[in-house]
Amino acid sequence: MSDPIIPPEPVAAPSRAQGRKSIRPSAQPRELMTPVPDLKNVWKAQVITLLPGAFPGILGESLTGKALQDGLWQLETLDLRSFGIGKHRNVDDTPAGGGAGMVLRADVIGPAIQSAQAGAPQNRPLFYLSPRGRPMTQQMMQDLARADGVTLLCGRFEGVDQRVLDHFGMQEVSLGDFVLTGGEIAAQALIDATVRLLPGVLGNASSTEEESFSAGLLEHPQYTRPAVWNDHPIPEVLMSGHHGRIAQWRREQSENLTRIRRPDLWAAYQSGKDDDRA
Ligand SMILES: C[S@@+](CC[C@H](N)C(=O)[O-])C[C@H]1O[C@@H](n2cnc3c(N)ncnc32)[C@H](O)[C@@H]1O
Repeated sequence: MSDPIIPPEPVAAPSRAQGRKSIRPSAQPRELMTPVPDLKNVWKAQVITLLPGAFPGILGESLTGKALQDGLWQLETLDLRSFGIGKHRNVDDTPAGGGAGMVLRADVIGPAIQSAQAGAPQNRPLFYLSPRGRPMTQQMMQDLARADGVTLLCGRFEGVDQRVLDHFGMQEVSLGDFVLTGGEIAAQALIDATVRLLPGVLGNASSTEEESFSAGLLEHPQYTRPAVWNDHPIPEVLMSGHHGRIAQWRREQSENLTRIRRPDLWAAYQSGKDDDRA
């Protein structure tokens, strides 16, 4: 049986979150995080983390920050520490079987996930950020943008007890083949890439239709004024005003770049074209 969860100590500003969710009324960027209740039909990211102060972070800036302020999406952090065990709210312990580092405890993570999921809509997938996970892709972000939101668990130390991942059937997703100190940067990358696909977040929706990966190709090179820079002119075709030639040039550039830089994407693109022809 798990030990009782000790409610968090009162902080200077009173919490409106019944001691569970990390919500502190303040004039700082954290006020951008809309707590409960969920706004109807608004995409919501819930982040379970030992470092709630890392949010919104970059997500509070620029287009994602404005969209957060405008209520086009919601962000909520759950402070893992407040689910910690005992007087010191311990969240980790040594690895079973020995070895270096510490592991986040199942009886800490479990209640945090249950708290996040209480009352959450069905269609809010649960992801654990992990270097062992499926690499993030644009397709993943497009699928997530069509869901009601996402609940993200950020690991620290050596990671989390496997039993909690198995119990909740968590999907593991990776930012890439390298090891970060914690899942927070990966969580912010995933949220950023998804939120920009939500309706109304980008001024110009067609920009997400023409960018890298949207058609299975890398994007063509981009240029802007001045027309000549350090003796390098903008390619003549782009100055021609001939839309058909410009579109053809861009397509060729995209295909060449993808073939040279990303043979994996190129092969998938080619086989997709073959399927279309079949
Ligand atoms: C130091 S890492 C743990 C690495 C783990 N011991 C391993 O070898 O797979 C601590 C936490 O950072 C996060 N993390 C590290 N690298 C990541 C990546 N490439 N993508 C997503 N999350 C990552 C995970 O949440 C992980 O639990």
